[in-house]
Amino acid sequence: MRFRLTRRRLLAGALAAGAGLLGAGTWIDMRYVEPQWLKETRVNVRLPGKTLSRPVRVLHLSDLHASGHVPMAYIEKAIKRGIAHKPDLVCFTGDLINRHIPDRKRYAAALRLLSDGCPCYACAGNHDGGSWARAIGGYAGLDETLGLLDDANIRMLFNASETVSLDGVLVELIGLGDYWANDTRPEKAFPHKENQEESPRIVLSHNPDSKGLLRDYAWDLMLCGHTHGGQLSLPLVGTPFAPVRDHRYVYGLNPWEGRWIHTTSGVGNLHGMRLNCRPEVAILDIS
Ligand SMILES: [Fe+2]
Repeated sequence: MRFRLTRRRLLAGALAAGAGLLGAGTWIDMRYVEPQWLKETRVNVRLPGKTLSRPVRVLHLSDLHASGHVPMAYIEKAIKRGIAHKPDLVCFTGDLINRHIPDRKRYAAALRLLSDGCPCYACAGNHDGGSWARAIGGYAGLDETLGLLDDANIRMLFNASETVSLDGVLVELIGLGDYWANDTRPEKAFPHKENQEESPRIVLSHNPDSKGLLRDYAWDLMLCGHTHGGQLSLPLVGTPFAPVRDHRYVYGLNPWEGRWIHTTSGVGNLHGMRLNCRPEVAILDIS
């Protein structure tokens, strides 16, 4: 049988080749480009009704997920890019690890670069230890992650609060336990439901879905991670894989009942993939 190269066959062949190339390009981007294609995101946050003698710069880091898919050299690069913005305060919102700490000494030394410059605080993520982490073969409790943070001079607020003075500017930080680990206890974390102080109240909570538990408490800004910005963002579909119920808070600065929620896409990833969803270090200028 003779094969005739018609215009229609030529077009079909070109389309198939194009689709193949596009597919291969998407795969290369998803696996080898975007997971470490770090961006720096600047966000201005205005807190009405609060008095700050000067703006405060917060470096918001989350979901570093140190693991085989997120090498220490990349994490060190992200930390140095954050430090270059000279933050007043660093806030980690969970998931420093995947299941286990891959290289505690090197990781602590990298994190210490941050705490050498300014106060650093953290809250727990579902991967850091606890009932959820144990179920996937991770740490049954938070002791190992707390040990890493201790070595790095970073304070974890686990259902606890602390007022921090940033060159005379007071900020009240509230850190919550993880929502998926069923550890979120606002009644323990908040010193009072109301905030009679002039200073802003910033909540560190890994999972933005936890906001429903905080409705009756006074706070101004909640910092979250967990979603990885959706990690895979599909054209026309969006972020179907974001592990949250409320998809309005998958990424960025968004209002909620008169307050702000900032969800960062985070530094690391799970399974070595990102698509249309770059990792970031987020710099928040709060005024
Ligand atoms: Fe995460």
